[in-house]
Amino acid sequence: MRAWRVLAWGGPLSLQELPPPVPRPGRSLVRMAAATVGHIDRTVMAGKFMAPPALPYTPGVEAAGVVVDSTRFSAGTRVWLRGGGLGTRSDGTWCELIDAPDEALGLLPDEVSMEWGSAFFSPSTSAWVALHELGGLRPGERVGVTGGSGAVGSMTLQLARDAGAEVVGQPDESSPVDLLVDTVGGRVLEEGIRSVAPGGRIVLVGYTAGEHVSIALPELLQRDVRLLPLNMYRREAQGRAAAPQLLERLADGRLQLATRRFALADAPQALQWIAERGHRGRAVLVAD
Ligand SMILES: NC(=O)c1ccc[n+]([C@@H]2O[C@H](COP(=O)([O-])OP(=O)(O)OC[C@H]3O[C@@H](n4cnc5c(N)ncnc54)[C@H](OP(=O)(O)O)[C@@H]3O)[C@@H](O)[C@H]2O)c1
Repeated sequence: MRAWRVLAWGGPLSLQELPPPVPRPGRSLVRMAAATVGHIDRTVMAGKFMAPPALPYTPGVEAAGVVVDSTRFSAGTRVWLRGGGLGTRSDGTWCELIDAPDEALGLLPDEVSMEWGSAFFSPSTSAWVALHELGGLRPGERVGVTGGSGAVGSMTLQLARDAGAEVVGQPDESSPVDLLVDTVGGRVLEEGIRSVAPGGRIVLVGYTAGEHVSIALPELLQRDVRLLPLNMYRREAQGRAAAPQLLERLADGRLQLATRRFALADAPQALQWIAERGHRGRAVLVAD
């Protein structure tokens, strides 16, 4: 069984031939069909995740595939995988046969492709929780999104429209929004505060434009804007609860998600691609 291994934090990856995992109680073996390469994988591989796995480990926090052996699911069941420490506390999904805790599996409807099954969880559940759980979106409110061309940003735009919000492409001080979902951080967040109406909310999702910001506290107080950080690892249960209805929207075409396929052997190229500005969609490794 081929699997990618991280041998040292921030070091090069190694594609290795390993013995296939053996069935264990409480765990499922899944034949990988698609495994996503995302920003979270870069964070974990760099050794920057708060509770990292022991080295060496197999990266990959999301995937989709077919059950081979499980006490909870019949062999042949189509599933998506995410959570339960997959690719964060323990070995992940960038391999031909995934050994996952049963609770990481969810049923993947026939109408949803393996690629979408692998790639949907992070962007769609992050967008959902940002809008509805943290952001408290009400119908008719004005919503702004930074990084709208990104995976989370585009899901946020689609779901906000679906919820009856008025979506504002480029929010600014002259046309303030009630809720700003910021997937970019840095200077974009500093400037974003001025585009939110008094009493409004900002949900912070990402920080690719900068890890540090300078906020004038008198301005924050006078504007009375709430800054709400999203941590989907702490809100995994909310994400899982939303997953079936998000899959339904993907199945009937209400939600769209861009993906780009890479061969399993091309994981390093996928990692490089997602780090480039202007890439569109999520990178997905597919089984040969
Ligand atoms: N907090 C959480 O729990 C959570 C959950 C999911 C994702 N995230 C984070 O959210 C962020 C977005 O994820 P994603 O999957 O949507 O990523 P993505 O598909 O790579 O999209 C990134 C977006 O940010 C924009 N961007 C990147 N650097 C920028 C800069 N310096 N200035 C302005 N815009 C910039 C990109 O614009 P261009 O297209 O112009 O390059 C693009 O629209 C990532 O940092 C990810 O780690 C956090």
